[in-house]
Amino acid sequence: PPDIPGANSMAHANQLQSIATANGGNRAHGTSGYRASADFIQSTLSRAGFTVTRQQFTYNGALGWNVIAEWPVGNPNDVVFLGAHLDGVRAGAGINDNGSGSSAVLETALAVARDNAQPTKRLRFGWWGAEENGLIGSAYYTRNLPSSERAKIDAYLNFDMVGQRDTTRWGIYVDSPTLGATFKQYFDSKGIATRSIDISGRSDHASFARYGIPVSGISSGSDPCYHSRCDTIANIGERVMGHSTNAAAYAAWRLAGIP
Ligand code: PHE
Ligand code: ZN
Ligand code: ZN
Ligand code: ZN
Repeated sequence: PPDIPGANSMAHANQLQSIATANGGNRAHGTSGYRASADFIQSTLSRAGFTVTRQQFTYNGALGWNVIAEWPVGNPNDVVFLGAHLDGVRAGAGINDNGSGSSAVLETALAVARDNAQPTKRLRFGWWGAEENGLIGSAYYTRNLPSSERAKIDAYLNFDMVGQRDTTRWGIYVDSPTLGATFKQYFDSKGIATRSIDISGRSDHASFARYGIPVSGISSGSDPCYHSRCDTIANIGERVMGHSTNAAAYAAWRLAGIP
């Protein structure tokens, strides 16, 4: 797996902060800040050579979007999926929740493209809309996938709140012990303590688990700015973002079989 500088993901998070600042301070579903966030992810991936799908849905009378990108190498019948919700609450910029996960997944996708990675399995990346309204975007995605397509997803890995500066123990979702063990290997190799967490229906992995897809994920935990105005770029740290990004990349490389 690559060794990705935390500064790379911080640069993406800075972009999301600028987008919030330029759009009334937030990136919530139904706002111009969300639309601009989706534009940013889509254009960054397009420039890197991904074919990007923007999936539109309506919730509460407002348009929302999921952004999906697939790396077109490897067996299309075996998909390893990494995802993060791109929306935030209206109270603030939503940078730990969840500019952090969105940035870590974006940087992992860009690393795959930079390395011209040749995985055995397919890597797919997703940024979900309207998670804060009740997992709306991810539920829309899985519900509208033909069951034959759902059956091709070997693993879904979720990244929600992965940037808190003061983390001492990383949380690994208990859902799939096998997938969780892959994350633990990364943190063990860095001498970082982990614990098992169960956030059951509180993030987008639930939209995949519902269909029997093996899921896991990581989180550096909640913080005093959770769902608040102070969840800004000052709320996340470069060192932590380096760990979330490299944990995501480690799992992508191992699980998709990149040599
Ligand atoms: N960030 C989630 C939400 O508000 C909840 C969550 C809690 C996720 C703890 C991960 C860990 O949308
Ligand atoms: Zn398979
Ligand atoms: Zn939230
Ligand atoms: Zn969240």
